[in-house]
Amino acid sequence: MAVQQSLENKAKAPELSIVVPVFKEAANIVPLVQLVEAAFEDDSWELIFVDDNSPDGTAEQVKAIAAKDPRVRCIRRVGRRGLSGASIEGMLSSSARYVAVMDGDLQHDERVLVRMLALIRAQGVDLVIATREREGASITGLSGQRSLVSDFGRFLSRLVIKADVKDPMSGFFMVRREIVEQAAPKLATEGFKILADLLATADKPLSIRETPYVFRERQHGESKLDARVAFDYLGFLLHHLTGRLVPVRFFLFGLVGASGVVVHLLSLKLMLANFPSYGFDISQTTATFIAMMSNFLLNNGLTYRDRRITGWSLVPGFLLFAASCSIGVVANVGLARLIFSEGQEWWVAGLAGALTGAVFNYVTSSILVWRKKA
Ligand code: GDD
Ligand code: MN
Repeated sequence: MAVQQSLENKAKAPELSIVVPVFKEAANIVPLVQLVEAAFEDDSWELIFVDDNSPDGTAEQVKAIAAKDPRVRCIRRVGRRGLSGASIEGMLSSSARYVAVMDGDLQHDERVLVRMLALIRAQGVDLVIATREREGASITGLSGQRSLVSDFGRFLSRLVIKADVKDPMSGFFMVRREIVEQAAPKLATEGFKILADLLATADKPLSIRETPYVFRERQHGESKLDARVAFDYLGFLLHHLTGRLVPVRFFLFGLVGASGVVVHLLSLKLMLANFPSYGFDISQTTATFIAMMSNFLLNNGLTYRDRRITGWSLVPGFLLFAASCSIGVVANVGLARLIFSEGQEWWVAGLAGALTGAVFNYVTSSILVWRKKA
C-alpha cells in the first residue's frame, strides 16, 4: 500500500531513453543537453551518457548536470572501449518503452528525435532510422572519402541484412526496447556497427521507418572512427555470414594472419636478394621473425585495439605472443602429419593443420597476451 502511494507521488517515468555513447566529448556535453531539452516540449525523455573513462573529463561534465537534473544520467565504464558495447549497455540500463542511440558530438540533429518518437508510437512500428540525406541537403558532415566508404559498406551489408534500408550504417536510430532486450545477448560489443548488427540479428522481420536529416559538421573534439573501421566491418560481415558461429575477432585475427604470410614471403625475397651470403635458413628464420612481429603489432593495433598493450609491456607481450605461436606450430604440424599419414591429400592435411594452428594461436593470445582487463 505504502509503496503504491509513494510510486504515485513520483515523477512520471520517461517514455524514451536517449543513449549517447561518448568518448572525449567534454566540450559537447552542455550544448547537447541544452539542445535536447529545447527540442522536446515535455519530459517524456531521459538522457543516458555512456562514457568509456575519457581522459578529458567527459563523465565529470555529465555528472555535474546529472547532480541537478534527474533526466540526465552517466554510465562510466572502466577498462572497456567501443561504441557498440557502450550503446548496448546504455540501452540495457533503460526501462523506458523506447530507446534511441545518438552521437554525442552534435553531428546528429536532436530535433529529429521528436519526429522519430512520433513515428515509433504508431501501432506496429519497431524501429525508426534517421537517415543521412544525400539529395539537396546532402551529407555535409561526411567527407568525400568517408561517403565512398559508407556507400561500399552499404552495398556489402546487403549480404547479411535482409531489410531494405537506406542507411544501415547510421548511428542514429530509435527502437522498441524489447527488441534490444531480445537481441542483446547476440550483439557484438566490438566495433561500431550497432544498427547493422541489430538488423542482421533480429529474429523476426522488423517494421522499419526511415526519416531523413542533415548530418552536421563536428564543432568540438574529433572523430574516433578511422580507416580501421573498414577492417572491423569486414570482420562483422564474415561473422554474420557464418551464422554468428565464429566471433568477429577471430576473423580479424585471421585477416592479420593472412597478411603475415605476405609479409613473410616479401621479407624472405628481400633477404635472399640482398643478403645471399646468409643462405636460406637464416633468411627464412629472419622472415619468420619479421612476420611474427608484424602480426603482433597489427593484432595489437587492430584486432585487440580495445585491449591494446603500450610502452614497455610490448616486450613481454611480444615474447608471449611468439611463445604461443610456437606452440601453435607444434599443434599445426602434429595434426597435419597425422591426417597426412591417414592417406589424405596433402592440401587437406595442410589446411587442417593451418586452421588448427590459427584457432590455437587465437585462443592462447586472447588469454595470455591480450587479456580482458578486469
Ligand atoms: N563510449 C564510447 N566508447 N563512445 C565512443 C567510442 C568508444 O569507444 N568511440 C566513439 N564514441 C562516441 C563518440 O564520442 C561520438 O559521440 C559517437 O560515438 C560517434 O563517434 P564519432 O567518432 O564522432 O563517429 P563519426 O562521426 O566519425 O561516425 C559516424 O558515422 C558512422 C557511420 O559511417 C557516427 O554516426 C557513427 O555512429 C556511424 O556508425
Ligand atoms: Mn561524429
